[in-house]
Amino acid sequence: MTKSTSLLLATVIAFGMMATTASADIRKGQKTYLKTCKTCHGNGTKGAAMHTQAEWESLFANGGENIVKQHAGSKAEGFFTGKGFENSAQDLRDFLFEYGNDSGNVPSCG
Ligand code: HEC
Repeated sequence: MTKSTSLLLATVIAFGMMATTASADIRKGQKTYLKTCKTCHGNGTKGAAMHTQAEWESLFANGGENIVKQHAGSKAEGFFTGKGFENSAQDLRDFLFEYGNDSGNVPSCG
């Protein structure tokens, strides 16, 4: 194993541990997803797999600017421009990021 590979591995493991400590938020985000997004985007596995982790980062950057824009004019616009999204954006991001389609993780109950 080269030095850079083991460094990469250590980073991946460290991230994995961080994800575990954040799991309360991930579960909260999953709940919000099932309540709010499932009707239009399917179960949690399907929803999170819409994007890679990097894409979720950018969709949720700047208070979720990009994901809010995606819903302008849709029936979900009210949720995205209101308090509901403001309050749950961080948890939703944690859930969707954790199970992004390049994460290798699959939620235990969709
Ligand atoms: C009323 C239906 C509806 C609800 C509820 C809804 N969306 Fe959407 N969503 C849409 C529509 C319509 C679009 C824009 C068209 C498209 O790309 O599918 C969209 C687009 C998106 C996109 C971009 C799609 C892409 O291909 O890049 C993401 C990501 C997304 N929604 C996530 C969510 C999340 C997370 C929630 C819950 C917080 C949610 N949506 C709730 C209807 C909905």
